[in-house]
Amino acid sequence: MSADAEPYLKIDGRRRLDGEIHVNGAKNAALPCLAAALLTDEPSRLRRVPDIEDVHRLLEILETLGIESKFEGNEVEIRPSGTSAGSPPDHLAAALRASFLIMGPLLARTGQGSCGPPGGDPIGQRPLDVHHAGFRALGALVEVSKERTVARAPNGLHGTTIVLDYPSVLGTENLLLAAVLASGRTKIINAAMEPEVICLAEMLNQMGARISGAGQHTVTIDGVDRLSGFNQTLIPDRIEAGTLLIAAAITDGRVCLTGVNPAHLESLLAKFAEVGIPVERTSNQLILSVDPHAELQATNIQALPYPGFATDLQAPMTALLTQVTGISTVQERVFEDRFKHLDELRKFGASIVVKKSVPQIKGPSRLSGANVLGNDIRATAALVVAALSADGESRVYGVDHLDRAYADLPGQLRALGADIELLPSADTLTN
Ligand code: EPU
Repeated sequence: MSADAEPYLKIDGRRRLDGEIHVNGAKNAALPCLAAALLTDEPSRLRRVPDIEDVHRLLEILETLGIESKFEGNEVEIRPSGTSAGSPPDHLAAALRASFLIMGPLLARTGQGSCGPPGGDPIGQRPLDVHHAGFRALGALVEVSKERTVARAPNGLHGTTIVLDYPSVLGTENLLLAAVLASGRTKIINAAMEPEVICLAEMLNQMGARISGAGQHTVTIDGVDRLSGFNQTLIPDRIEAGTLLIAAAITDGRVCLTGVNPAHLESLLAKFAEVGIPVERTSNQLILSVDPHAELQATNIQALPYPGFATDLQAPMTALLTQVTGISTVQERVFEDRFKHLDELRKFGASIVVKKSVPQIKGPSRLSGANVLGNDIRATAALVVAALSADGESRVYGVDHLDRAYADLPGQLRALGADIELLPSADTLTN
């Protein structure tokens, strides 16, 4: 399908965002927490769940494994009918990266797990060796082929010390989901420290697990025999919040985000302070107000594991850096192929050169409306951000990427005063 045959966002730029918006629950916390439903036979409830495609796909996967659910008003009610050692259909596994999170719980509960290649954004190679090595350390036999991963633990999983080669987020979560029902003590060293990992660990503890140290480099898990259901509210989505803050900043806006956890956004707020964007905070609000006459200063970004600058905000931040004075550099240290938005940003008139793999952004550039195509979730969000500050009309294609992760980014931006509209394909319009 050519880009012209896709729906697109029509954005008329240079409207100052103004107003208050409530942030949704976190996608990357919803997914592991939902996978935890495989660990119990009791009914459960998850609250503040974002209404996004990745959540719906994971619920479909869980249904194939014996977990029925109802999604209503941002709450998911879960009714297990007996977790079965199955394998989700390959097309569902391929729909999202987090499909692989069924492996840890299935291994722990049924002694067997199987999953086709998980999908996810094309932002790097994204191997699964951290997951595989962790399952093996816990005593599983893991067979890996191009078609699928099959893991078996006929004698159960046994606690041990696992040193992760890399603090993988989903890797840490998968091993937590497995180790909670392993016999004895597991230590995960070099664990991911993301808030979403803490959210999962807290929920597992509420179910009866014994996890300590989540959010630190070393997490300790003392295995238990069984877990009860959960009744948990998700943390706010720090990436949605960051995207909205960046969108507000690029329009010289004045926006109050409610229902956020400012502590999860320290690395972004520190960069805003360097650039000259003031943000006031309360315990659960962030209020950003940019003086249109202030000159914003260039800065350097390095995307890193938490608590470093979030790789998921690198692309939107790159769009903002086109509007600050001087040369900013952006280094991506998490995913090796997460710069596909640069060519598209240039179409708006951004001045970006790449020296020794490091993009240098010279600003400020006056951006003009352009037709652009997003290739992944956050790249598409970055193009929306750029279009908000561009003169005239832009068309942003790749809207389906946004639907995977943002409950309603266009609607939120419209509520703040953006001129943004979802339109069917150009073909449809001319027919
Ligand atoms: N890696 C390995 N081996 C592994 C796993 C990962 O080498 O077994 C490498 C990856 O290739 C990459 C780095 O480790 O270079 C980081 O990958 P990680 O495993 O931490 O990422 P992930 O768990 O697959 C989650 C989020 C991503 C987010 C990253 C980093 C979910 C569902 N996804 O992915 O979110 O970018 O952590 O913070 O939690 C998004 O929301 O747009 C998104 C891509």
